[in-house]
Amino acid sequence: MSIILKEMIKPEFEKRYRKLLGEEYEILLSFMAKKPIPSIRVNPMKVDPNWMVEKLERLGWRLQQISWYGNGYRVIEGPERLGNTEWHQLGFYYVQEAASMIPPIVLSPKSGEKILDLAASPGSKTTQISEMMKYEGVIVANDVNPSRVDTLIANIQRMGSLNVIITMMDGRLVSSRLGHDIFDKVLLDAPCSSLGEIRRSWGALARWSPKSVSKISRLQVSLAKAAYRTLKPGGLMVYSTCTLEPKENEWVVYNLMKAGAIIEDIHIKGLKWRSGIERWLSWEFGGEIRKTMRIYPQDNDTLGFYVALIRKPM
Ligand SMILES: C[S@@+](CC[C@H](N)C(=O)[O-])C[C@H]1O[C@@H](n2cnc3c(N)ncnc32)[C@H](O)[C@@H]1O
Repeated sequence: MSIILKEMIKPEFEKRYRKLLGEEYEILLSFMAKKPIPSIRVNPMKVDPNWMVEKLERLGWRLQQISWYGNGYRVIEGPERLGNTEWHQLGFYYVQEAASMIPPIVLSPKSGEKILDLAASPGSKTTQISEMMKYEGVIVANDVNPSRVDTLIANIQRMGSLNVIITMMDGRLVSSRLGHDIFDKVLLDAPCSSLGEIRRSWGALARWSPKSVSKISRLQVSLAKAAYRTLKPGGLMVYSTCTLEPKENEWVVYNLMKAGAIIEDIHIKGLKWRSGIERWLSWEFGGEIRKTMRIYPQDNDTLGFYVALIRKPM
């Protein structure tokens, strides 16, 4: 493992993550030091995925289908970056990390539904959801950051996602602006400390501190409560982050449970994950939290993710 990476680790980080992972802590670090495997998600609304894969393989790329998402492929090798091709510009595929495809699969969008994606930019999950809906129904894709909304617009246009309305507001205000009980499904892929993305950039490790985690956790709880309010009774919400921090994951979901939310089981074939943790520091989240999903980088050789499926009672 890289000595530079090890030197960046703060003693409090090591203490907490050794406690969380036990003997697997060293394995986590070794995966954090490894470059992630790039992957793409082929857009079946624009192109036959078999045609796209054959075309790329004839030109020298070697692709491997992702076991949990049939239109997703890991890029084992290739002559150039897949973001540079004309097919990328045409929206035939989106360069998206394999674990990032999981929250939309858990949300399981259907044609005709009304869906909110509260923190949507750059739009990898919005465009995936749109394709899963076959462009039928409506997605409201929101982000607070103007320059990131520009990127979101560009990606939605490139992928041809016809059923997306874009809004720009602080997600904490969404229920006061749009109303309560209106969406069939809601995705909150929350801003987070990004510890699951350390394989991509070590910046998250340098920025990590208990104080910064607590600060972002407060924002996540407010966003989650606002998102939950917009959900119809009986509707489903996915809360996801690309971090491993319990205060940004189980703690946030626990706050929704206190507001009456029900946690649902998650079933995905071909994916390894761990149950959400029941206790952390001085908090007890209860047994239901075990239905939520922790994905460590070493589980499937991806980035790290946390995903919870939440139902609003009727
Ligand atoms: C993890 S990223 C979302 C990634 C996106 N879902 C995707 O798959 O491409 C989190 C996003 O939350 C946005 N964000 C941060 N604070 C927000 C807030 N208060 N309201 C709405 N969006 C916010 C950020 O600008 C960022 O684009």
